Amino acid sequence: MEKAFTFFLLTLLLLMASSAMTQTNITIDQLSLLSLKAQIISDPFHFLYENWSPAVSVCHWVGVTCNSRHHRVKCLNLSNMALMGKIPRDLGNLTFLVSLDLGSNNFHGNLPQEMTRLRRLKFLDLSFNNFRGKVPSWFGFLHHLQVLNLRNNTFTVL
Ligand SMILES: *[C@@H]1O[C@H](CO)[C@@H](O)[C@H](O)[C@H]1NC(C)=O
Ligand SMILES: *[C@@H]1O[C@H](CO)[C@@H](O)[C@H](O)[C@H]1NC(C)=O
Ligand SMILES: *[C@@H]1O[C@H](CO)[C@@H](O)[C@H](O)[C@H]1NC(C)=O
Repeated sequence: MEKAFTFFLLTLLLLMASSAMTQTNITIDQLSLLSLKAQIISDPFHFLYENWSPAVSVCHWVGVTCNSRHHRVKCLNLSNMALMGKIPRDLGNLTFLVSLDLGSNNFHGNLPQEMTRLRRLKFLDLSFNNFRGKVPSWFGFLHHLQVLNLRNNTFTVL
């Protein structure tokens, strides 16, 4: 009986430790940002080119701010960097993201459906880019969204 209880407690502790580890594990965020970097076909001022390196913690990368409690990426601000490229599906893995500012760049293509996983998002600025396609209906699933700026893109409004 006592053994069983000790075993139960140990299992509980292990489970708690592993969930704490996944919460502070920045690897997911690093992989999704590197995946974004891989989609950038033009970075004329080399904002990300050298700075976004796996040798340095993502929390120190240009445009990245981390949440001090979970050490997960909280804000991504790449506005006005003349970046050209597409948004990869993996961006949806930045599940702690609260603010995403990609304004005034040359991002193009459709917005991936996976962005619906950014449930904590409050601020989304995609203005002055070349995004196209229908205005995604999943914006409605981002319940915390307070600011949404889509100006100067070629979204089709139905
Ligand atoms: C973070 O997660 C990755 C992949 O899930 C794993 O390989 C790595 O060991 C983890 N690191 C820590 C510090 O938990
Ligand atoms: C993002 O999450 C999906 C689903 O969990 C996973 O298949 C994919 O490998 C992740 N991407 C990266 C870059 O870690
Ligand atoms: C992103 O950075 C630009 C330039 O520093 C700043 O003007 C803008 O307000 C920032 N966006 C957010 C959401 O903080």
